Amino acid sequence: MASATQATSRPIIPQHIAETVIAAKSYADDAVIYDAFKWLRGNMPLGVAEVEGFDPMWIVTRHADIREVEKNAKLFHNADFNPVLNDRASDDFTREMTGGSVSGLASLTYMDPPVHQQYRMLTANWFLPGKIGKLEDQIRVLAKQSVEHFLSFDGECDFVRDFALHYPLRVIMTLFGVPPEDEPRMLKLTQEFFGGHDPEEQRDEMKDDPVAAAKMWAAALEDFFQYFDALAEKRRAEPQDDLLTLIANSRINGAPIGRDEANGYFVAIATAGHDTTSSSVTGGMHGMIEFPENFEKVKADPAMIPGLVDEAIRWTSPVKHFMRNATQDVEVGGQLIRSMDRLMMCYPSGNRDEAVFDDPDRFDIRRSPNKHIAFGFGPHMCLGQHLAKLEMRILFEELMPHIASIELAGPPKLVEANFVGGYKSLPVRFRKA
Ligand code: HEM
Repeated sequence: MASATQATSRPIIPQHIAETVIAAKSYADDAVIYDAFKWLRGNMPLGVAEVEGFDPMWIVTRHADIREVEKNAKLFHNADFNPVLNDRASDDFTREMTGGSVSGLASLTYMDPPVHQQYRMLTANWFLPGKIGKLEDQIRVLAKQSVEHFLSFDGECDFVRDFALHYPLRVIMTLFGVPPEDEPRMLKLTQEFFGGHDPEEQRDEMKDDPVAAAKMWAAALEDFFQYFDALAEKRRAEPQDDLLTLIANSRINGAPIGRDEANGYFVAIATAGHDTTSSSVTGGMHGMIEFPENFEKVKADPAMIPGLVDEAIRWTSPVKHFMRNATQDVEVGGQLIRSMDRLMMCYPSGNRDEAVFDDPDRFDIRRSPNKHIAFGFGPHMCLGQHLAKLEMRILFEELMPHIASIELAGPPKLVEANFVGGYKSLPVRFRKA
């Protein structure tokens, strides 16, 4: 592919800051990563990271600059390079496997105009609030079951493992029509798919392997494909009223959607839809524990729950980045970006940008408007955002009346991941209402 960043007078980010933003392990410590982002926003909001083993890349940390880049999908592509940050060795491994492409997956994230819109249109209506709002009763049944399970711990449990982790997965698998007995397999695959850099998520045979993340990603993908091939076949033979049937029977330019494209869609939705949401639910509870006046407000007035949901997503920002590349020379935030330069969109940084959010580290469910960019921005903006918010609202509506108080019972643990991260564990002690 074409060369990466080569402008002459570009601001180079100090080495330790550049390494911090790129390293997966930094994201397991809020203090470390948010300090680095704060320094960048204040001193070099668009600077170039030059880190051994990686392509040079612009690190984009301001809310306004991230929106500026993301709103124009023709000027800034996702997929001339890998839209997910990997080191060169891992991208080379993927290219070897695919015969030259770093896009191991034919999903929306790996598409650019005009193909991207064609594929997005296939399900865009299905994901609109009016349509998914009809799923409220179905989702509420799952939320009630999850809350019942949580309350059965009678005072102490891990909020992630014993509560938040399973519900979004159950929602998305129910909407897909995946049977409950296959959910553990889907959960494991998703964690491998996203958690390749976290030693605790790696497959045993891949520990200490420099391209472990890429290999695990490929292995998880193959498992996903085998699973969804069989399911799609069933839905073509016997259509049902579910999302899987819609995708399996879709047509592009009059022809049935290809196997890779159908699988790319399934995998994107199956993976994007739950770790992100479960981390945001957990972040919402963690935020209320750290800033208890919010807990009291929600207890007193359930109408505050939509505000809680938005603030939980902003404060947690479970998607840490997506990459873009310029398709021509262009100026952003006063810097000249050259054609084929790569850019890393740092959503958690944009969501703590002091220019947009007062006291940005504070968890405050009354923020209005809450213009966070945790779902990205522009044509690639999260397809499942309304579903994620609906699920979270219903879950908190069901949970909050049943707990009188809640506190930490141990330190929270975050995933070591620079792509999709969030909570690994949140030990809590609670009293039932
Ligand atoms: C894309 C965040 C939940 C499906 C994205 C992007 C972000 C994101 C940052 C990339 C946007 C961009 O490039 O500008 C989140 C967060 C979630 C969440 C924070 C939960 C709180 C979901 C759910 C689903 C979903 C529930 C589906 C059921 C997708 C898909 C894309 C996407 C398919 C690709 C869209 C495209 O490239 O056109 N999401 N997401 N997400 N998300 Fe989500």
